[in-house]
Amino acid sequence: ATIQWFPGHMAKAIRQLEENLHVVDIVFELVDARIPQASRNPEIERLIKDKPHLMIMTKNDLADDQQTTSWIKAFKAQGLPAIAVDSKANITTKAITKITQSILADKLSAELQKGLKERPVRAITVGIPNVGKSTLLNRLVNKRAAQVGDRPGVTKGQQWLRSSSKLQLLDTPGILWPKFDDEETGQALALTGAIKDQRFASDDVALYALKFFRQYYPTALTQRYKLQESDFDLSDVDLLLKLTKLFGMKDDYERASDRLILDIRKGKLGRYTLNRTTGDQDD
Ligand code: G4P
Repeated sequence: ATIQWFPGHMAKAIRQLEENLHVVDIVFELVDARIPQASRNPEIERLIKDKPHLMIMTKNDLADDQQTTSWIKAFKAQGLPAIAVDSKANITTKAITKITQSILADKLSAELQKGLKERPVRAITVGIPNVGKSTLLNRLVNKRAAQVGDRPGVTKGQQWLRSSSKLQLLDTPGILWPKFDDEETGQALALTGAIKDQRFASDDVALYALKFFRQYYPTALTQRYKLQESDFDLSDVDLLLKLTKLFGMKDDYERASDRLILDIRKGKLGRYTLNRTTGDQDD
């Protein structure tokens, strides 16, 4: 779903999120593990303030494992607990419940000490479109017993969904807009399919992809397209033209660009992370 963001939409999204923040214990901020930076909303920290906050890196199955490990470290170093998930696999609920319990351990034990009853933790998922909010929600929620029912404080029409005895989720994720005021961020969003509108020309995105893959994953590129080592002497533009020929697309480099982009989105060139951590390959 492509969402066109106008100031009015942003204001409304912020208002809704601010309302929902009052009724949750913790925010699950979703980012795409391939673009942990580009898929973050710039306003998020300011909006969440001191609310406990778990960073969930989605689509981990598509990202570079080494980079994911180093991103988790980098987030933790900023005081942000982080976990990577593949929402298409069946292993998410336990891990997320466990880390959530540990983040909120002090709060929960203080409640018990005050004589309050043990209760499920309440969370909301937040993130840009296509980051995987609904997929994760479906994965976390036991559909047979999904709806817990209306609760005071919840905006009309919203429901708590039961994930486990220890976790409930608001059925309406918080949707935030991506920021693409710098070109590289925009291209990274476009290449992963986070944005699918026509804002970025496919040949520009393809050139960005070629430049990136030849630097970080050259073997993936040569193997997939049976390129020669010497092809790396070509400029990005000439390499794109060469691929166009290899695809049998004559000089239709726009069609070839779309094909390259689709291959990369689908993981045909293997797993990759576009936003690199500074601690690259250090351990
Ligand atoms: P949203 O609610 O945040 O907008 O995202 P949604 O769950 O709809 O997910 C967007 C796309 O990302 C979906 O693909 C979904 O299957 C995919 N996705 C979500 N989580 C993961 C994950 O952990 N791993 C992988 N590999 N894919 C994931 P789709 O419906 O096929 O849409 P599209 O690919 O045509 O965009």
